[in-house]
Amino acid sequence: MTSTTTSHATRGLTALVTDLDRAVRGTAPGRATVDAVADALRPALGDPRLLRPDQRVGDPAAYRQHLLHVADDGSFSLVALVWLPGQATPIHDHLAWCVVGVHEGAEHETRYTARPDGLLVPTESAVAYAGDVEGLLPPGDIHRVTNAGTDLAISLHVYGADLSLVGSSIRRRYDDALVG
Ligand SMILES: [Fe+2]
Repeated sequence: MTSTTTSHATRGLTALVTDLDRAVRGTAPGRATVDAVADALRPALGDPRLLRPDQRVGDPAAYRQHLLHVADDGSFSLVALVWLPGQATPIHDHLAWCVVGVHEGAEHETRYTARPDGLLVPTESAVAYAGDVEGLLPPGDIHRVTNAGTDLAISLHVYGADLSLVGSSIRRRYDDALVG
C-alpha cells in the first residue's frame, strides 16, 4: 500500500466529517459506534463531488491510501483506498473498529477464522458494490480485499484510530501459506 495525506477538503467531505464526528461522539464505544458511523457514511457513497481528482488517483505498484481526515483528538480517521484492477490487500486484521463503504466499483472480500494451530480457514466470500457498507469490530476480523473487477474501485474507510500516528489500520499481516 502507498499513502498520501490531504490538506483541504471538498464541501461534501467537510459535511461527511461533521456527520462522522457526531456519530463517534454521540454513541457508546463498540457496536453502537460502528452502526452510527455506518449510517453517517452511507449517504456520502457514490457522490461524485466528494473527492478531489487527486484523491481518486491509484498507484500501479499497490492499492493506495489517501488520508482524508483525522479527528482533532485522534479518535477516528477517514481514508479513501483506491484500487486498480487486480490489486489486493494482504490477509490482515485491524487495530480498532472499522467501517468500510464502497464509493465506486466493486470489492471482493474473503473472511478467515484463525484455528488454534494458527492456520486460517476461509469462512465467507462476498462482493460489495457502490453504496454497500460493512462494519468490523476486532477481534475476529481477519480478511483480504481485492478489486476483482476491470475498473477502478474506491472505498471509504473510517477507523477508530489516529492514522497520522500509526500510518495504517492493519494490526497484523498473515502469510498466505497459513491458509489451510
Ligand atoms: Fe481491512
